Amino acid sequence: DLLRPSPRDLEGRTVVVSAGPTREYLDPVRFISNPSSGKMGFAVAEEARDRGAHVTLVTGPVTLADPPGVTTLRIESALDLRDAVVAAARGADIVVMTAAVADYRAAEQAGEKQAKVAGDVTIHLTPNPDILAQLGAEKGARVLVGFAMETHAGVERAAAKAARKNADFILLNYPTREGTAFGGDDNQVTLVRPDGTHEDWPRVSKREVARRLLDEAVRVRRERVP
Ligand code: CTP
Ligand code: CA
Repeated sequence: DLLRPSPRDLEGRTVVVSAGPTREYLDPVRFISNPSSGKMGFAVAEEARDRGAHVTLVTGPVTLADPPGVTTLRIESALDLRDAVVAAARGADIVVMTAAVADYRAAEQAGEKQAKVAGDVTIHLTPNPDILAQLGAEKGARVLVGFAMETHAGVERAAAKAARKNADFILLNYPTREGTAFGGDDNQVTLVRPDGTHEDWPRVSKREVARRLLDEAVRVRRERVP
């Protein structure tokens, strides 16, 4: 399906995409993270570029190379991701948050490697800022898209998230959908709107999910900015 030409419906528009995991360092050599590969976000960035958009991709540590023709910013922590995304989003028409943002970071990051001690240890974690919610609070005419992985009550939870964060829609995935999600080349998602209406999409390549995502974002934008 890569042979299908992309429409040029994002000519002159600005699209910001976040991708990959964040790393929350406990000390200089240890961190909390997750297995996000970045593939979904990179696919959105490449598809937006091919449709004519100026694209900024803000990514956590992943093995993928910078996509040609995309401004790629590499960050590690959720706080750095927030700073980069919020700055890039200022002039943006569409913001897509595929990043798997760690919900917590160490309350105090040790400056030196922490030696092992006898017995249990307790790590004090503090919540990271919710970047999508922050963008939603100052949304303007921007189209805001999120992703969510849920193990249960997916549609209900994703709709509640979209409403709380003022996102236009969330693409919902389940970790049990084989061959999709973390690390895979395909994805099978359900589009969920804040009002609870939803559409199941078939299992397709992440690039095809990116196409459909941007089709929907363009529709939302046309309704908002006729
Ligand atoms: N997100 C974000 N900032 C955070 C956490 C999440 O911008 N600190 C974004 C993600 O990039 C994603 C969406 O919010 O697009 C939903 O992420 P999710 O982890 O499902 O939402 P949470 O509000 O963290 O809910 P949960 O308690 O289920 O983890
Ligand atoms: Ca979370």
